[in-house]
Amino acid sequence: MSSSSFNAEEHKNMLRSYFNGQGFQRWASIYGDDKLSTVRNTVRQGHAVMMDRAFDWLQQLGLPKGATVLDAGCGTGLFSIRLAKAGYKVKSVDIASQMVEKAKADATKEGVAGNIEFEVNTIESVKGSFDAVVCFDVLIHYPAEGFRQAFANLSSLTKGSVIFTYAPYNNILAFQHWIGGYFPKKERRTTIQMIRDEEMQKAIVENGMRVKNSEKISFGFYHTMLMNTSRK
Ligand SMILES: C[S@@+](CC[C@H](N)C(=O)[O-])C[C@H]1O[C@@H](n2cnc3c(N)ncnc32)[C@H](O)[C@@H]1O
Repeated sequence: MSSSSFNAEEHKNMLRSYFNGQGFQRWASIYGDDKLSTVRNTVRQGHAVMMDRAFDWLQQLGLPKGATVLDAGCGTGLFSIRLAKAGYKVKSVDIASQMVEKAKADATKEGVAGNIEFEVNTIESVKGSFDAVVCFDVLIHYPAEGFRQAFANLSSLTKGSVIFTYAPYNNILAFQHWIGGYFPKKERRTTIQMIRDEEMQKAIVENGMRVKNSEKISFGFYHTMLMNTSRK
């Protein structure tokens, strides 16, 4: 349902500032090869499981070599680099310039920067036309209203599939999330916004899409719902 208290600009500013600061350090180490605590290690492993599954789904689309893929909210570029290595032409966009710089540096190291176009931009504003769009662990930071705005843009950029993750609503997680607010600030995880199934379905249908596959990925402290949606 639409939440009148959602302010898109404020929300973006909060995310930009987090992912250019403390969030950059935190996530770059999870997505890199630093030694991690047991908890964070499960997040790294769960994320790898999610990317493997998403990569399989993308390959199953049978797109031709050189097909174009938008990686929306690319972070440090893990998935973009994998796509470029597999022969896709990639556009990698992130709201945080620090993330884009890191993605560019890693792609250069891996010898695939020539197959990736980088841009500091948002999932709500990015433009273009792609054979497929992927957006991983970005929409988990959006409440339903923000999700709908972002998904409307992402789905308009392809005649094919949008593969993304979101945080499904469930009472236990909702409770943990709520109680999380009582921990000291430095112990809190990035705010995860849960979306109810019916709100998710509504946004998908409103944009002329349908769900092809979905899979809950749960690994230690990593919990996400991976969705494969395509044009009706
Ligand atoms: C948890 S990381 C996931 C990174 C990457 N998709 C992955 O799975 O490896 C979330 C990323 O989303 C980016 N982000 C958050 N809100 C965004 C927005 N509105 N537009 C573009 N990027 C955004 C953050 O800067 C961060 O790099």
